[in-house]
Amino acid sequence: MSSSSGSPPAARPKVAPLQAVRGMNDVLPDESALWQRLEDAARAVFSLYGYRNLRVPMVEPTALFVRGIGEHTDVVEKEMYTFDDRLSGESLTLRPEATAGIVRAAIEHSLCYERPQRVWLAGPMFRHERPQKGRYRQFHQFDVEALGFAGPDVDAEQIVMLARLWRELGVADGIRLAINSIGDADERRAHRADLIAHFERHHDLLDEDARRRLHANPLRILDSKTPSMQAMIAEAPRLIDRLGPESRAHFDGLAGALSDAGIAFEVDPRLVRGLDYYNRTVFEWITDRLGAQGTVAGGGRYDGLFEALGGKPTPACGFAIGVERMILLLQGAGATAADAPLAYVVHSGDAAGTLARSLAEQIRDAGHAAVVHAGGGSFKSQMKKADASGARYALIVGEDEAAARTVSVKPLREPGEQRAVPARDVVDAMTPDSPMRAAT
Ligand code: HAM
Repeated sequence: MSSSSGSPPAARPKVAPLQAVRGMNDVLPDESALWQRLEDAARAVFSLYGYRNLRVPMVEPTALFVRGIGEHTDVVEKEMYTFDDRLSGESLTLRPEATAGIVRAAIEHSLCYERPQRVWLAGPMFRHERPQKGRYRQFHQFDVEALGFAGPDVDAEQIVMLARLWRELGVADGIRLAINSIGDADERRAHRADLIAHFERHHDLLDEDARRRLHANPLRILDSKTPSMQAMIAEAPRLIDRLGPESRAHFDGLAGALSDAGIAFEVDPRLVRGLDYYNRTVFEWITDRLGAQGTVAGGGRYDGLFEALGGKPTPACGFAIGVERMILLLQGAGATAADAPLAYVVHSGDAAGTLARSLAEQIRDAGHAAVVHAGGGSFKSQMKKADASGARYALIVGEDEAAARTVSVKPLREPGEQRAVPARDVVDAMTPDSPMRAAT
């Protein structure tokens, strides 16, 4: 109602605040600094190995994931966010992972026509899982793919690259590497028949899930956590014992390259991954520090995926890092990331405001972050904000300083007296040991 009607404005009804969707998290600035540290480190390491960034949509045709990931996987059977396009009625899905979309894009743009490609992307993925620590409905991955490489050298390269990233982040001693080979299609077919025969011999031990999967996806039964099935699973025939000569040579080549690079690994013959496109190499990096959701990165080779999605035969290998799990691991290791400014400038009066802003620009010219207080208030209240900002120094500009073109520099994080310096010397006063100063 406009006030011109003469009646007092009606009180607005109190509105209940909305909350984020369950399993989808906000990342607030305090936590985001660590995300940025991880992102910076990952970007830098990937580019050291010649991997280049690409971006694909978050929404793809549902058929891409059904064909790419496999109809009988948990992801496709029960975890996808799928909806119909309002106009066309086409079934669309929020990407539950990135590999299928990247391969779709590579086929669509003939990306591997002239040469193989090393690519990576970062972004959110969506899976309707039961949320718990380390498992969310919107989560983030760094996804890395080498498209058009038959390996095993490139399989090893990706693992060595991850080992470098863990060292870079200071978490190498908390993560171990498990590798396995799940062979090629015909080896898997033969193994599958052996497995079904084994599980059928022990049909009475199978839980409901396993019975349902027995013929559709017996490999996934190996992943079961049901305690009463563990002994029977341990006796199941192992594919790694029955690899043909080419798959065997591939696996031995990978193991040899990892040993040459000094990377410790365990061979886990039970390691099967939750997505159906893999063949030969599969691997996971696992930590014991995050409870049940301990796999911080996983991947492997998917030589058949291009063809399954209508492209030319193109061997490929890749992995994804779970960003939230890495953040939990980093936090557990006591990692912090500083994004506090070097200086917080407090000021009072027009002339002082002008000097404050020009000081801040001078500091930024030297490559340091500076925040100029906004919103007025007494010096005392401004100093409280300076402290809360995490800045190393408060710079104080009052009318006297403005008139004399000086600034008072007060250390906030270490003992030291406040001292007045000429405005032009403010950067040197805060960074006495910086290489920039030594060079000048
Ligand atoms: P994935 O094993 O399904 O593989 O996921 C990779 C990583 O993403 C997991 O190891 C985990 O750290 C993280 N992750 C998965 N689901 C969740 C969740 N609900 N909440 C939090 N983190 C999660 C893939 O996605 C493959 N596309 C990897 C790949 C790339 N293979 C070849 N190229």
